[in-house]
Amino acid sequence: MDQHQAKREMRERLLAARRAMPAAERTAAGSALRDAVLALPGITMGGTVCAYHSIGTEPPTHKLVAALWKHGVYVLLPVVLADGSLDWAAYEGPDSLTPADHGLLEPMGQRYGAEAVHRAAAVICPALAVDHGGVRLGRGAGYYDRALARVGPNTLTLAAVYDDEFVDTVPAEPHDQPVGAVVTPGGGVRRLAPQ
Ligand SMILES: Nc1ncnc2c1ncn2[C@@H]1O[C@H](COP(=O)(O)OP(=O)(O)OP(=O)(O)O)[C@@H](O)[C@H]1O
Ligand SMILES: [Mg+2]
Repeated sequence: MDQHQAKREMRERLLAARRAMPAAERTAAGSALRDAVLALPGITMGGTVCAYHSIGTEPPTHKLVAALWKHGVYVLLPVVLADGSLDWAAYEGPDSLTPADHGLLEPMGQRYGAEAVHRAAAVICPALAVDHGGVRLGRGAGYYDRALARVGPNTLTLAAVYDDEFVDTVPAEPHDQPVGAVVTPGGGVRRLAPQ
């Protein structure tokens, strides 16, 4: 089986497990992810943090996004562009979001372009799984592979996943961009060594 097919099967399995997760567990995960990221040294010291506004069964980030913003962090959220890249726009509170394609909510604030991730202190990415070497499995569109290729040398890249989604091995393809850390509800933030 090739890596592409292995990814597809892994996505199906993980998405089914997410659908089966009790709502209360998901809600608790959102609080734990918020607390774990806020505990990162320096995270509220005035830098920019790129994050995502979760939908459906994704690890919940609404509490995290709101808390970062309330602590004065400059929070950017992705805006999906037709060319397959992500633009980044400022989150300015819950009222600054508007419905977009695929059930997403997008920020209406000023847009800073795809290169905005380069100067971010941290980029918090969605993922379905992450392995010990930082290989992440996304939803299969490559948006975050393209975005992570643009981060700067001092940007901390983090994938947010549920506890069971931090795994030994994720199938990797040459274009996959590893992340530098994982954040899980039960384990907090852990740095990952590229393999
Ligand atoms: N830098 C890139 N330039 C052009 N295409 C790319 C790039 N990175 C990835 N892709 C394309 O994106 C497609 C999906 O990649 P992949 O299966 O790794 O998605 P993913 O990492 O799960 O998704 P996402 O990054 O959106 O969460 C692949 O067909 C790949 O060729
Ligand atoms: Mg990928």
